[in-house]
Amino acid sequence: RRYLTQTFELEGQGVALENLTRDAALEVLGAMPAESTDSGPPSSRGAKADHSPGVSDVEILEAKDFDALAELVARCTRCPLHEERKRPVFGEGAIDARVVCVGEAPGAKEDETGRPFVGRAGQLLNRLLLSIGLPRETVYICNVLKSRPPRNRDPLPEEVEACSPYLIRQLSIIQPEVILAFGAFAARTLLQTKLALGRLRGRVHEYGGYPVVVTYHPAALLRNPAWVRPTWDDLQIVRSMLDGDSSHA
Ligand code: URA
Repeated sequence: RRYLTQTFELEGQGVALENLTRDAALEVLGAMPAESTDSGPPSSRGAKADHSPGVSDVEILEAKDFDALAELVARCTRCPLHEERKRPVFGEGAIDARVVCVGEAPGAKEDETGRPFVGRAGQLLNRLLLSIGLPRETVYICNVLKSRPPRNRDPLPEEVEACSPYLIRQLSIIQPEVILAFGAFAARTLLQTKLALGRLRGRVHEYGGYPVVVTYHPAALLRNPAWVRPTWDDLQIVRSMLDGDSSHA
């Protein structure tokens, strides 16, 4: 994954996973073919392999489009979260979106409906996006995790590791102009940092060659209306980037 990130950083936004050969993709993710993670007695497999009889990194990287990728998510058992989820939440929106919004993980409502950001936080997200002239259907919305953690607990590092190839592939299919990370969890996952959200917001970062703007999670805004103003400021950065202002680069 470090190699992938560095390659993205060196080569810039044009790099997409489909340009990688199968062997390069394997190298990137340090991946094992699905068969080999399945074989052998349980004691010879890692903890992750106990839950990964199905989808391999390579299959995810080679998924040709969103339908293929969503099918992999639907049958994914790469982490134990699939055991308790009602429905996987793949993501939704415009395939040619200029902006990809990334949240943390599905909540109860999302788990029931299979759609991202459809609860109260989602309604606020819709309004925030509209405030910069982006109706919900014009962006793409997804989460770091595609399955709901029990009782909405924080995602575990091994769950993020298991799920992140899906996000990487979603981004490489869409190739957005801006990634908008909502909340500390999405921001820290994408930017590989432990910095507080207050230290990350207000400027443009980079993930895999894509510009990343970080702001408060809509659920946090519902609890802290004082954060609405800085969120609005962050969204203005996105708007001006879409309008061709390169001063944030
Ligand atoms: N919070 C998130 O981070 N994602 C959702 O889809 C819903 C709530």
